Amino acid sequence: MKITSAATAALLLLASSASAFFTPSSSSIVTQLASSTISSPPERIAPDAGWVPEWEGRTGLSPEEFVKSDMSKPDLSGMWECPLTRWNSEGIDVKAAQKEAAKMPHCPLEVRATPADNAMGAEYFAKNRDKLRADLLKYGAIWFRGFTLMQSVAGNRLMHEALGLDPCLDPLHSSGLRKFASERDALYEEVNKPSLRGHYIGLHNESTAKRTAAYAAFVCFQRATEGGGRFLVADGAAILAELNPVTLEKLYNRKIRISVSNLDIPPALPSFVKDGIKGLVDVAVAPKFDMDLEMIYESDGKPGRLQAVETAESPINRHPVTGLPVWFNNAHNHARKLRDRRPCGVPEVGMTEVFYADTMEPLDLEDCQEIKRASEKHITALSMEPGDVLLVDNYRALHGRDVFQGDRFHAVTWFTWDQNEEWRGNERRIVEKNAFNQAINQMMDWLPKDFESNQS
Ligand SMILES: [Fe+2]
Repeated sequence: MKITSAATAALLLLASSASAFFTPSSSSIVTQLASSTISSPPERIAPDAGWVPEWEGRTGLSPEEFVKSDMSKPDLSGMWECPLTRWNSEGIDVKAAQKEAAKMPHCPLEVRATPADNAMGAEYFAKNRDKLRADLLKYGAIWFRGFTLMQSVAGNRLMHEALGLDPCLDPLHSSGLRKFASERDALYEEVNKPSLRGHYIGLHNESTAKRTAAYAAFVCFQRATEGGGRFLVADGAAILAELNPVTLEKLYNRKIRISVSNLDIPPALPSFVKDGIKGLVDVAVAPKFDMDLEMIYESDGKPGRLQAVETAESPINRHPVTGLPVWFNNAHNHARKLRDRRPCGVPEVGMTEVFYADTMEPLDLEDCQEIKRASEKHITALSMEPGDVLLVDNYRALHGRDVFQGDRFHAVTWFTWDQNEEWRGNERRIVEKNAFNQAINQMMDWLPKDFESNQS
C-alpha cells in the first residue's frame, strides 16, 4: 500500500499527540521520528469576530461625568423605608398555579432607543409612562437599551422620576452594609467590589421574609473593563411553570427557611457559655439586620455552629398586584450545595443555607439540582452597556449576576409602592443612623453584599 507524505505526516502527528497521553517507550522509533519532524506547536490565539452588534461595545461617560448629581434637585436621602413583604401564599393549588404561570410572555421585554427616543430625553419616559408601567407588570422586567439619558446618575434619576417610581431603602439597609453610589439620588452600588468579582450571584428577589422592594432599576454606567459580568434575570412565573410538580409540591408543603450567617463557636465550650453567646448575638447583632431571625445551633450539622435563620416562608407567592402565582424564593442563590458547585467568594461567616422548614434539614442535592435546572433554563444573561437599565418587578422577576474581570460600575435604585399608601407604609428613613451605618460600611467593606441580603 502506498502511503502518501500527507498521510505519513498525519500518522506522525497522531503518534506525537498520543505520546502526550501514554507513557512512551524510550526506544520508540515513532516518537523519535515525530520529535525530529514536528517543531514546537503554534501559538494559541482566540479566533476573532469582525462584526460587533450595534448594541454592544458602546462607550459611556467618564467616571467624573457619570457620577455627577444634579445639585438643583432635592436630596432624596430621607427616602421611604423598604416596605414589608406582602405574602399571599395560602391555599395555592400547585398544578393550577403552574398552568396559570406558563401563560406569561418572555421576560424581559427589550426596548431599544431610536434616535428620536433619545432626542426626547426624559420626556420619552413621561410620555410612555402608562404603557411602560403596564409592560413592567406584564413582562416582569424591561431592558432599556441604548438610551443616552441613563448614562449618568443625574439622567438615571430623571428616568425613574418620569416613570413615577418612588425610591426606598434597600431591604437590608439597616445592617449598614449597603453602600450608596449617590445617596442624594437614592442610588446604591451593586456588587462591584474587586474582591467579589469572581463570585457568582445566583437568582434572588431583593427580599427577606420581612421586607421586599416593589421594583428596582439596575443601571450600568461602566461595564466590566476586562469582560464578563452579565446581568441575570429570570421570570419567577416561568420557573414556577418549569419546576417538577412533585418537587414543587414538596417544597410548598414543607416551606423553607434560610440561614444568613454562620458563627463557629468552639464546640467544647460549656453549654451555658454557648447559650450566653447565642443570647448576646440575638440581642446585639440580629436587630441590625431588620429581619426576623432565630439563632439556632448546629442545624447544618457542624459542631458549635450558630446560624441566624429566617422565619419559614413559602417558595410560591401570589403577585401583590396581578395575583399571578410565582416562584418567589432565593434558594438558587443561597443553597449551600449550589454555591459549593460554582464560583463562590463568600467567607464562611457569610455563607448561607436553605432548609426544609419542617425538619430544619438542608435541602437535598436532588431538590437543589431541580431548582438549578428550572431556574437556569429561564435565565436571560444580559450584556449591559453604559446607559442600559433593567427595570424589574421585584415580586415577579429574579435577578443575579455572572462573574466579571476588571472594574465595573453598576448601580441600583429600589422602589416602594407608589400607588398604594397602605402597602408603602409611613416609615421614612431615620437619617440619624447615617453616621453609624457609614462607619460600619467602611469597617465591613470586605463582607460580600450577598451577606447583607438574605437573598443578593
Ligand atoms: Fe440583588
